[in-house]
Amino acid sequence: MKKLNILITGGAGYLGSMITTKLVEDGHNVTVIDILEFNKTSLAHLFIKHNFKFIEGDVRDKNLISRELINKNIIIPLAALVGAPLCEKYPKQTIDINFNCIKFILSKIKPSQKIIYPNTNSGYGIGEKNKYCDEKSPLNPISLYGRTKVESEKIILKHKNSVVFRLATVFGFSYRMRTDLLVNFLVNIAVRYKKISLFEPHFRRNYIHVDDVANAFVFAISNFSLMKGNIYNVGLSNANLTKIQLAKLIKKIVKGTKISILKNRKDPDKRDYFVSNKKIEKLGFKPKTSINEGIKELKNIFNIHNFKKNKNNY
Ligand SMILES: NC(=O)c1ccc[n+]([C@@H]2O[C@H](COP(=O)([O-])OP(=O)(O)OC[C@H]3O[C@@H](n4cnc5c(N)ncnc54)[C@H](O)[C@@H]3O)[C@@H](O)[C@H]2O)c1
Repeated sequence: MKKLNILITGGAGYLGSMITTKLVEDGHNVTVIDILEFNKTSLAHLFIKHNFKFIEGDVRDKNLISRELINKNIIIPLAALVGAPLCEKYPKQTIDINFNCIKFILSKIKPSQKIIYPNTNSGYGIGEKNKYCDEKSPLNPISLYGRTKVESEKIILKHKNSVVFRLATVFGFSYRMRTDLLVNFLVNIAVRYKKISLFEPHFRRNYIHVDDVANAFVFAISNFSLMKGNIYNVGLSNANLTKIQLAKLIKKIVKGTKISILKNRKDPDKRDYFVSNKKIEKLGFKPKTSINEGIKELKNIFNIHNFKKNKNNY
């Protein structure tokens, strides 16, 4: 495969550190720009590689971005404030980083340069109880986080050489670990306290392992001409699970876990939907890691390491 010059913003994050590692291992020349907000060593294992360049920098630095866009074949803009609570806390920075910086990148790139962008599928759930969602289903996000992601998706799709992923809830180990994501969070508390307390247990979501997210980016690079100009849901089609179904799978693997239901709490994240991932599957993409394998992986990791609460935990 042709070796490409790839720029990844936010490449030291939960998704980014896994995607970057895979692309460096594939031999591409990868440049990461990241402010290292959460983890300073998530890419330390790559510093020895001649095809990896790290820049500790801010995506709001227009000179830096303009300079680093030159001669890049592919741009993967991951830098963002991620999650509704963090974005509500820093609204100005959220609009700047999650939206204005994407707009700036688009104003600077040439038509031939390619973009692969991750959006969240969480907006499918708003007011659409028990709905089966595909890429034509509208996203109606209520949080500032969701809105900035959807607005960025819209302007990115105006660039013909773009692919957009709408990712399911991501789980699994990454070099920059997040313990706030639903599966990671529930396995962590099951291992620590042998108890899972759920509210609105019948809310349903779709899930995907972080390694398969990285595989999806590799797949998009290999199949870009086929995929460009389109949105793809990326999730495990056999894991459209309610929270209670997920907790029961965890209970089977983390022995002795008790599940209790909290009746008077509401989930601010109004997700309750089945997601169809057929569009990308028809092109030949299949996630490799099942939800059970991911739970076992997380159990083994949480057994030996007590991760600090992430700054943006919720
Ligand atoms: N994790 C998920 O479940 C999920 C799902 C859908 C979409 N996404 C999207 O994927 C991307 C990455 O998410 P993540 O889960 O890896 O989050 P993350 O918080 O782990 O990663 C974000 C990275 O961006 C960096 N960053 C933040 N502001 C920056 C700035 N001003 N300049 C440079 N770097 C900056 C942070 O230091 C961090 O390393 C985001 O765009 C997010 O919206 C994530």
